[in-house]
Amino acid sequence: MTKMPVAIEGENIIKDFKIGDTVTRVLKGISLQIPKGEFLSIMGPSGSGKSTLLYILGGLDSPTNGSVLMGGKDISRYNDEKKSVMRRRDIGFIFQFYNLIPNLNVEENVLLPILLDGKNAKDYRKQLNNILEIVGLTDRRNHTPRELSGGQQQRVAIARALINSPDIIFADEPTGNLDSKTGTEIMKLLKEINRESDKTIIMVTHSADAAAYGNRIVSVRDGMIYNSNS
Ligand SMILES: Nc1ncnc2c1ncn2[C@@H]1O[C@H](COP(=O)(O)OP(=O)(O)OP(=O)(O)O)[C@@H](O)[C@H]1O
Ligand SMILES: [Mg+2]
Repeated sequence: MTKMPVAIEGENIIKDFKIGDTVTRVLKGISLQIPKGEFLSIMGPSGSGKSTLLYILGGLDSPTNGSVLMGGKDISRYNDEKKSVMRRRDIGFIFQFYNLIPNLNVEENVLLPILLDGKNAKDYRKQLNNILEIVGLTDRRNHTPRELSGGQQQRVAIARALINSPDIIFADEPTGNLDSKTGTEIMKLLKEINRESDKTIIMVTHSADAAAYGNRIVSVRDGMIYNSNS
């Protein structure tokens, strides 16, 4: 039997949040394997732990217990420095509210991970042009976020997630702030990126329509995975 190469593997992920004297167990031992090239949709009720799980899988947060293996390495044991380097170089993140810098234009927002990494933006000229073409923003490259529609702003965020050619893209409700027509356009774009550049995508969504763009849907309820239709 041939084994699919694994992009990320979560093993018995537990997350406790402490507020005052009270400890709440938000993730109660989640294990999942995400093969390379998969487009995984994570669904579940509000407060079930979806974003917490996504952030732990992407190294934005650490598990209280358990491990997250990326390329066989346990990223949950990385120190902050190693984590932030990994976040800038190996993965891309897309959020519901775009998280763009208001006073930077489209090009500058897209190049931000490069600049933060101390690299020369000039070396990324070709890559930038190519990505702006993919997300359809070539003619908006000098606009600032407030001069763009919501859908266009999310395209900037997608371009920013792609600039370092990461293997894995994480998205937390990428269409949550968009009307359904624009949401569909964004989902088609993500699907195209998944198919054509063979990137692994892990997306949290409330929308069944959006989730259907994935190859697999995992449901989280009360900090546990309760089904998987793979
Ligand atoms: N930094 C934090 N400190 C304390 N509690 C937190 C923190 N982050 C999340 N929580 C709690 O963990 C639980 C899960 O939150 P999470 O954001 O993962 O839910 P979610 O499934 O993404 O919900 P939504 O669909 O509303 O975005 C919630 O009860 C939330 O209040
Ligand atoms: Mg959430």
